[in-house]
Amino acid sequence: MIRSVVAGCGAYLPKNVVTNADLAQKIETSDEWIRQRTGIGQRHVAAEGELTSDLALKASEAALADAGVKADELDMIVLATTTPDETFPATATRVQAALGMTRGMAFDVQAVCSGFVYALAVADNFLRVGQAKTALVIGAETFTRLLDWNDRGTSVLFGDGAGAVVLKAAPGKGDKTDRGILSTHLFSDGRYHDMLYVDGGPSSTGTAGVVRMEGREVFRHAVTKLAQAVDEAIASNGVSESEIDWLVPHQANRRIIDSMGQRLKLAPEKVVVTIDRHANTSAASIPLALAEAHADGRITPGQLVLIEAMGGGFTWGSALIRW
Ligand code: ACO
Repeated sequence: MIRSVVAGCGAYLPKNVVTNADLAQKIETSDEWIRQRTGIGQRHVAAEGELTSDLALKASEAALADAGVKADELDMIVLATTTPDETFPATATRVQAALGMTRGMAFDVQAVCSGFVYALAVADNFLRVGQAKTALVIGAETFTRLLDWNDRGTSVLFGDGAGAVVLKAAPGKGDKTDRGILSTHLFSDGRYHDMLYVDGGPSSTGTAGVVRMEGREVFRHAVTKLAQAVDEAIASNGVSESEIDWLVPHQANRRIIDSMGQRLKLAPEKVVVTIDRHANTSAASIPLALAEAHADGRITPGQLVLIEAMGGGFTWGSALIRW
């Protein structure tokens, strides 16, 4: 059988850093409140004129260099974002052009904070049926453009950034010892729309809108739905918690991250955490964390990596990857 093996990763964060103390000068909040409730200490914010495709391009170039793959070897680009440069065309096609890739396909996937898990699952399925051999999967966001900076319930939570991975099709035996993506599990339930959404769009208001969220409810659902996604990943592969080398969760809230680590009985140092420095970068948070832990030598070939995310929709999901 065919497996999608991670051949390389890359990341990019905009230069401009906004601390909690910076926010506390503009709105009624404090560094202490934000850290205690969320684990966030700062976030990166894209410069004026710096677009999602610009962040995605830099992360993609780094991932391609890490993989030793040239852009013209790619058969597909799948880019997860909630903040496309334009309503159309897909931001993925802008990255395609900027990379100088003139063949293959490029398209966007929309699943908000779960976007990277969805995009990875899409690319994995293309590779496993043989419709592509090499794929670039990107999570990229200028999420701060969707914020009402006066809404302290949301504006303190998010940041901008991009991460990317290169996947290559390779033969596997079909068991849990294979390198590559061992499983993906995706879920959604549209009845939860009102708990987390953006109050605009081309077909409704003709504006981009801003994020609206019932934080407490989102938190409650995140803990149970992520547990389901994680349990399915483990059960379907016949692995035990003790075999998981790394949990690389979506970075929405430190308390959600910790509760998933505890559920898996993982030592805290086995959970990759970036929320303190990146905040919630939506679809970019997992590939940013993967790229960081790959670059600093924490995640090494042969190790078992579990990723999970939940976002607006609600959407949620998990993937188990042998690095
Ligand atoms: N600074 C200071 N006080 C604040 C702030 C702030 N930034 N925001 C809210 N408060 C106040 C509220 O007004 C409220 O005051 P009150 O008691 O006088 O009414 C009090 O703090 C408590 O507010 P809650 O919303 O109940 O606080 P909670 O403990 O639930 O924390 C938070 C809020 C951090 C948003 C939390 O619910 C959360 O993280 N939820 C998950 C949301 C999330 O992660 N969304 C991202 C997208 S989905 C995903 O990625 C999973």
